[in-house]
Amino acid sequence: MADMGGAASANSATEMLEDGVRRRDWIHIAALSTAGVGAASVLIPLVSQMAPSADVLAESTTDVDVSAIQPGQSIRSVFRRQPLFVKRLTAAEIAEANAVNVSSLRDPETLADRTLPGNEDLLVTMGVCTHFGCVPLGSNEGENKGDFNGYFCPCHGSHYDVAGRIRRGPAPLNLAVPNYEFKSEGVIRVG
Ligand code: FES
Repeated sequence: MADMGGAASANSATEMLEDGVRRRDWIHIAALSTAGVGAASVLIPLVSQMAPSADVLAESTTDVDVSAIQPGQSIRSVFRRQPLFVKRLTAAEIAEANAVNVSSLRDPETLADRTLPGNEDLLVTMGVCTHFGCVPLGSNEGENKGDFNGYFCPCHGSHYDVAGRIRRGPAPLNLAVPNYEFKSEGVIRVG
């Protein structure tokens, strides 16, 4: 199921994001993620597949098994070569997110706007700060979640809330929610 391209590519990926994603996160990625490309890539020569073009990357999808994520837990994956955060919210965190006056937000979105219907507890966002693209903290146990119990970007001090919405600091927008859907029970397909 997992397609990590061997130890060499795993090491390369680790080096590529070593300042933002710790090695053990990539171990999680190896265990929980698969990446695929759309049918169009079938016709693309092998050489091109080894060094995917921008078009192929743009069409790529990532499947993430979310079935084992317990309330209050998060995992990291990778989507189109960028960190992806997947968090299972607790009932208290859902209530906290829904208690916010949305009109007061810099980038007004409800939790429902940012999740799939019937799955408000599953928050899927890019792990990329919308200021200058650093990887925020908060998806690993014990990390600084900022002042709003979500994510904290240490580069310039952006605080995101429990729903990944920008609440303080220079970031202009909420953490992006990629397109995704349930591919099967417990597995989402991102992209
Ligand atoms: S890159 Fe995150 S606050 Fe600047």
